[in-house]
Amino acid sequence: MKAIYPGTFDPITKGHLDIIVRARLIFDELVVAVGDNPQKKTTFDCLTRVTMIRESILDMPEVEVISFDGLTVEAAKNVGARVIIRGLRAITDYELEVQMAFMNRSLDSDIDTVILVTSPNWQFISSSLIKDIAGLGGDITPYVPEPVIPLIMKVFR
Ligand code: COA
Repeated sequence: MKAIYPGTFDPITKGHLDIIVRARLIFDELVVAVGDNPQKKTTFDCLTRVTMIRESILDMPEVEVISFDGLTVEAAKNVGARVIIRGLRAITDYELEVQMAFMNRSLDSDIDTVILVTSPNWQFISSSLIKDIAGLGGDITPYVPEPVIPLIMKVFR
């Protein structure tokens, strides 16, 4: 079965990577889909976010990375995925994730959401927190895949 893992990935973190690695073990095929929503002000443009992910998963060449605009269910349909993967961290994620899962199922009942609980090490990280740390001169190396570090530091140095 094919799954799609959508997100903003601004930038990808080791928490996202944890979900990619585990989803790949469960599903036959996995597509990571970077949302390109012009209304969502991101630090990194879409191409950079896609590149960051590709460079972080060089050891998983079978995982496809794409960008999409519009609805997640449409992106899923376009790549032939029947499952949307989402990562759940603390309980604060729960409400939004359940809301999105219900809405996506209401938009397309052929597509279901599978939620993976983020591993304990990455429960409390987020892309914004990492950008805050980088901006204040802190060490981000424990939290983001190694190839992504120079691209983040280029913006925050
Ligand atoms: N580890 C660490 N952090 C994680 C994480 C994990 N496993 N999973 C999520 N996060 C963090 C991200 O770093 C991000 O942090 P930030 O807010 O500090 O930047 C935050 O959680 C949310 O990020 P993300 O997973 O990228 O999701 P999102 O809420 O930005 O949603 C889409 C992205 C693409 C899924 C959503 O915008 C969408 O569905 N767009 C399409 C429109 C649509 O279909 N709408 C109707 C459906 S409801």
